[in-house]
Amino acid sequence: TQNAFPTLNGNPPLVIAHRGASGVLPEHTIAAYQRAIDMGADYIEPDLVITKDGVLVARHDRHLSKTTDIATRAEFADRKREDAYHDGMDWFIEDFTLAEIKTLRALQPRAGRPTKFDGQYEIPTFEEILRLAKLASKTTGRPIGIYPETKQPTAFAAAGLRHDEAMLETLLAFGYEGAEAPVFIQSFEMGNLKRLNSQTDIRLIYLTETRPDFAETAKIVDGIGPYKKLLLTDAGEDTGFVAAAHAAGLAVHPWTFRDDALDPNFSDIETEMSAYFALGVDGVFSDFPDTAIRVRDQK
Ligand code: G3P
Ligand code: CA
Repeated sequence: TQNAFPTLNGNPPLVIAHRGASGVLPEHTIAAYQRAIDMGADYIEPDLVITKDGVLVARHDRHLSKTTDIATRAEFADRKREDAYHDGMDWFIEDFTLAEIKTLRALQPRAGRPTKFDGQYEIPTFEEILRLAKLASKTTGRPIGIYPETKQPTAFAAAGLRHDEAMLETLLAFGYEGAEAPVFIQSFEMGNLKRLNSQTDIRLIYLTETRPDFAETAKIVDGIGPYKKLLLTDAGEDTGFVAAAHAAGLAVHPWTFRDDALDPNFSDIETEMSAYFALGVDGVFSDFPDTAIRVRDQK
């Protein structure tokens, strides 16, 4: 039928706003998440890191130089350092309290995107993001899902910070628990996911840049977040990834659909997304959730 999708559950694929509506506003800001909700995104994606005083905030990385104005702030000039997990000198989130982080302002890190909003928005806490999702779920009458990623949990553990514990406690405090909650927790670290699997029934997603053992993966998580090019050959043919994942009961949410990282087989982001929807993916991470929704709903 016209509305049938070859997804695992037959539902339309989810549109996950990658770092918020990060194609048009500085990523991981309340403004970017709000814009994604206004565009109709099903889920908003915060990458989570943690401050010196143990507060989860949304940033793509532990280091702060690319996504904040810290390099222009004289009072923080002597707080730059080297780190075993990162090439070169930088400022690291776990060296700063939330009060200090709140004095920073977000920047657009990707070349070629609008920079006119740089310096306007603060760095949001995970709690502020959950509050936004709860409020927006009420005002829009549809559940706004949350798709948090535990970023570098091993590095934070080495610094004595309780990253995933803090995330689970915060989700629970906001009433998110169980497999029915509109939440997916994602991580590149299988060890982290194994620990989470023993602590929560919230759905888990394994992020990967290589084709995994689907049956083994299905013992731990509910789905896979693959680098999108694992799904198509260089010639643009189906690699069988989605079928194999679905056969193991795993959902597939590839990343990242954006105008400046197109597969050369496609002339534009719409054609690219459309090909992935035809493969049966269960969701897409996109910097442009409005485009993803338009393409999906044309189906
Ligand atoms: O979480 C899916 C995708 O976002 C992984 O890449 O680097 O954008 O967090 P990254
Ligand atoms: Ca992410």
